Formats: sequence, C-alpha cells, structure tokens
Amino acid sequence: MFTPTVRSARPEDAEQIVALVNKVAEEDRSLGVDRFPLTVDTQAQFAASADPLVHLMLTAFHGDDLVGYLYASRGTTESLLHVSSMAIVVDRSARRQTVGKALMAAMRNWAQVVGVRKLTLSVLATNAAGRALFEDSGYEVEAVRKGQYVIDGHQVDELLMAAWIGSGGSAHA
Ligand SMILES: CC(C)(COP(=O)(O)OP(=O)(O)OC[C@H]1O[C@@H](n2cnc3c(N)ncnc32)[C@H](O)[C@@H]1OP(=O)(O)O)[C@@H](O)C(=O)NCCC(=O)NCCS
Repeated sequence: MFTPTVRSARPEDAEQIVALVNKVAEEDRSLGVDRFPLTVDTQAQFAASADPLVHLMLTAFHGDDLVGYLYASRGTTESLLHVSSMAIVVDRSARRQTVGKALMAAMRNWAQVVGVRKLTLSVLATNAAGRALFEDSGYEVEAVRKGQYVIDGHQVDELLMAAWIGSGGSAHA
C-alpha cells in the first residue's frame, strides 16, 4: 500500500497521461473507449490553458510514475452549471490501493469549491471494478441505456450514475 500524490495535471504530464489512458483502454475492454481523445501536444496545451472552474485534470503519482488520472468537467450553460461529469483510470499495477478513492475525493472537493452539486458519470454495466468504486463513493444508478456500446461484438448496457453534494434530486422549487 502507498499514498499517491494527487495534484492537478501539468503540461509536462501529457505524455504519461496519454500513455496511461491508452494502456488502460487497451487492457480494460470495459472502459468503453478505444484510446485517449487528444494527442500529447493537445493535452499539454489543454492542461496549460483550460479554465479550472470548468475542467479538472487530476493526476495521481507514485514517485515519478503516473498511476492514475481523472478528468472532470462541468456544464457551461446556466441550466447545467451545477452538473459535472468525469472519467477515471488507474494503472493495473496500482489498483486496490486507494488511488481511485483519492482521485474521487479530490474531484469532489473541486466540485464543492466551484459550486457543482450533481456529480455524474457513465460506466459500462460489465465494469465491476468501476461500479464498485462509484458505489463506494456514494453514486447511484439513475438510468440505463440499453445496448449503448458494442464491445467485442456484444451489446453492453451503459449505466448513468450520479451523486449529489448536499440535498438534491428531482424536487421542484
Ligand atoms: C475502477 C478503477 C478506477 C478503480 O481504481 P482503484 O484505484 O483500484 O480503486 P480503489 O483502490 O480506490 O478502490 C476503492 C474501493 O472501490 C471498490 N473497488 C475498486 N475496485 C474493485 C474491484 N476490482 N472489485 C471490487 N471492488 C472494487 C472497493 O470498494 C474499494 O475499496 P476496498 O479496496 O477497500 O475494498 C480501476 O479499476 C480502473 O482504472 N479500471 C479501468 C478503468 C475504468 O473502468 N474506469 C471507470 C470507468 S470511467
């Protein structure tokens, strides 16, 4: 067991971030994406220029090694300012050592600071580790998109999960 160093991503982390996400995407078919959507250069530019009130790029390091990455963003229209969404990966060698938990807790702190009240995410129904981490972090399934993904030729349901900061839900004013 080790204590990861969790901090915001810097431009110089871009190469490790792209490599880690691509490695996990290749190893874990239940992630649902084939590869990281940005190049090393565009990730570096993004980390240098993104508005921290809208975008959160969190890294978890063990020494000099990147072992976890979480990306979150919040809505930018007035109607969605209170909502964020996120994705997370942890290197296989560092799993079940609280890296995921530490990243989720840091993300929740950011959400509180910027005024997000509803935390959302998407996870494949077949992703047992992801579902367990999110349930452990207080998320509940609020919708199922049937057969949303096709993984290795098989249809897989997508679960939309959410957790509220403070009171929330479908109450009307
Ligand atoms: C899901 C993932 C991020 C978890 O990261 P992690 O660092 O291993 O998680 P943690 O060690 O912080 O686990 C915290 C809790 O989550 C639950 N959990 C995590 N992985 C689990 C697993 N494989 N089986 C059962 N429970 C699990 C447990 O409750 C765990 O607490 P415990 O170890 O005290 O029992 C990691 O497995 C991963 O990167 N998977 C591939 C990418 C992915 O699926 N991302 C999510 C979709 S966006």
